[in-house]
Amino acid sequence: MRMVRRTGDAARLAVPLGLALVAAGCGGSQSTLEPRSRASDEIATLWWWMLVIACVVFAGALGLIAIAWLRRRRPGLPLVEGGKKLNLRLVVLFGILIPITVNVALFIVANFFVIQQTEAPAATTTPMTIQVVGRQWFWEVRYPGTGAVTANEIHIPVRTRVNVVATTGDVIHSFWVPQLNRKIDMIPGRRNRVLLSADRPGRYRGQCAEFCGIEHAHMAMYVFVQTRADFDRWLRGEAAAAQSPSGATARAGRNAFFGNQCASCHAIRGTPARGQVGPDLTHVGARSSIAALSLPNTADALRAWLRDPQHVKPGNRMPDLDLSEREIRVLVAYLEGLK
Ligand code: CUA
Repeated sequence: MRMVRRTGDAARLAVPLGLALVAAGCGGSQSTLEPRSRASDEIATLWWWMLVIACVVFAGALGLIAIAWLRRRRPGLPLVEGGKKLNLRLVVLFGILIPITVNVALFIVANFFVIQQTEAPAATTTPMTIQVVGRQWFWEVRYPGTGAVTANEIHIPVRTRVNVVATTGDVIHSFWVPQLNRKIDMIPGRRNRVLLSADRPGRYRGQCAEFCGIEHAHMAMYVFVQTRADFDRWLRGEAAAAQSPSGATARAGRNAFFGNQCASCHAIRGTPARGQVGPDLTHVGARSSIAALSLPNTADALRAWLRDPQHVKPGNRMPDLDLSEREIRVLVAYLEGLK
């Protein structure tokens, strides 16, 4: 009985869940069909053309099936003279010439126009280069020449061509911000590049697009596109060393941080913490999320994370340090103060 009820529930839920899934796939801040840059605009246009061509071909195939069904009781072949003999010219035209022409045209357009528009130009011709390292499971972001290192949040100035150099610290990942450009794989031993630029300020979601282990789905990031002045201010702040803790609770948190091996995995610039395993925490308090967008950056979420990181994001590299509630409280105060 219970089984039957469950099956009924599942059936009732199927339609709204399916619709929600479709809605989630279209629109929102991660859609390739809402391009916000020249490169993604080219990709979207190509996609729409491919959709139109595919629909025409599909409609043609459906039409042929319909004709075959309507004529199922009549002898002979449809659409050919007298219905007796297969017309070789039709086969050559629809089976060989049209498919080859369409595919070659798509290849030429994609290869010589769209890919040219989406590829990062030589590093010397863009005003800015940033390095993004894919790691299980977060994004390390570096701004060469400035000392700024952050995680899971990329800031770039609006209408500026930024050369992203993508590498990996472990396995293959794929860097993808659908509204801004195509994806680029991060492959061990290689330095791949992709162009990042946006027409208007905003926040654009990116996602790892290559299965890289158990938390692949929770490897997301934001690209913040800012006005030049806002970006310059952000970069200056990000490049600076960490603030000293203010207040007794935050100071106790700093002591807890250095008393609990946190520094062997995390770096906080301006302190002895130089670990390179986890994200740089120098300005962690200023970020909008933690754990590669798995959680918002709030005191509650930070507490939950420190209490049991493996529960929040199973498989991640952060061990359960068995911290006391007092240690968690002061650590959160310290980390939140690192703006
Ligand atoms: Cu990184 Cu999937």
